[in-house]
Amino acid sequence: MKVVHTIQELRAQLRGQLRTAFVPTMGNLHEGHLSLMRLAADHGDPVVASIFVNRLQFGPNEDFDRYPRTLEDDISKLEKEGVYVLFAPDEREMYPVPQEYRVSPPQDLGDILEGEFRPGFFIGVATVVMKLFQCVQPQVSVFGKKDYQQLMIIRRMCGQFSIPTEIIPAETIREPDGLAMSSRNRYLSPEERQESVWLSRTLHEVAKRIRDGQASCSLSVDDVADIESAALQVLNQRGWKTDYVAVRRRTDLKLPAAQDLQSPGELVVLAASKLGATRLIDNLEI
Ligand code: PAJ
Repeated sequence: MKVVHTIQELRAQLRGQLRTAFVPTMGNLHEGHLSLMRLAADHGDPVVASIFVNRLQFGPNEDFDRYPRTLEDDISKLEKEGVYVLFAPDEREMYPVPQEYRVSPPQDLGDILEGEFRPGFFIGVATVVMKLFQCVQPQVSVFGKKDYQQLMIIRRMCGQFSIPTEIIPAETIREPDGLAMSSRNRYLSPEERQESVWLSRTLHEVAKRIRDGQASCSLSVDDVADIESAALQVLNQRGWKTDYVAVRRRTDLKLPAAQDLQSPGELVVLAASKLGATRLIDNLEI
C-alpha cells in the first residue's frame, strides 16, 4: 500500500484509473471501517482509503482534540485489506487557506436529528467529502448506514452537483452484544461499555413495537410518538441523556404520515444519546 500525504502525490498515484473505489474515514479503524474496504473492493479497483480528522465537522465543545489518532495501527489494518492507496493529508494540505467556500446541505435534511444537536456538522462533512471527491475522483464510494443521515446527505449532494460517483451503502457492523462499532466506543469506561448495549436494545424494542402495530394494522401517528417517548424514557431512567429517538421515513428522514405506517420497509428508527461524556448514535431499519 502506498501512503500519500499530498493531493499531488495522490493524483499521480491514481492517474488513468477508471474504476477507483473510495472509502473516506477519520481513522482509528475498526471492523466497521474494514467491512467498507471489502465492499469497496467488490465494486471497484483500486481501493483508496483516506484518513483525515476533519476539524470543520467538530463543534467548539466537541472531541476534535482527543479524537483517537492511531495512524500506524490503521496502516497495518489497511495493508491486510489490500487497499492500494491511503491518503492521509494533514490540515495544512486539506485547508491551506481558511475553507470559506462550503457545501451547505438543505435545511430539511441537514438541520434535523444530528444537525439539530450538532449545528454545522453536516456542512463540515459535506464540504470535506466534496473536497476528498475532487482529490480522488472515485467512480464509487462506500458509506456506512451507521451514519444514516450522513449517507443520505452525501448521496443527494452527488445527485444535485452531478458528481459522477456512485454511493454504496454498507450495513452496520456490531459487537457481539449489539453495540454498533465506533471509534468513540473507546471513550467508554468498563461500566459504561456494559450499559451501552441498551442503545441498540432500545432500538430493537422500538422496531418490534412498530412491527407489531403494523401487523395488527392499528399503528397510528400518535402510537409512534408514544413508542418514541417510551424509548427515550427507558434510556434516561437508566442514566443516559438522550438527544432523540426518532422514527422517520427511510427515503427522506421526514416524520411518517399515516399512509407511511402501513407497509413494512418504509421506516427507520434513529437515536443519539449520551452515556457519561460519550455521545453514541445508532439506527435500525424497520
Ligand atoms: P468515520 O466516523 O471514521 O466513519 C467512516 C465511515 O465508516 C463512514 O461511512 C461510517 O458510516 C462508517 N462506519 C463507522 N462505523 C461503522 C460500523 N460500525 N459499521 C459500518 N460502517 C461504519 O464518518 C466519518 O468518519 C466522517 O464523517 C467522514 C465521512 C470521513 C468525513 O469526515
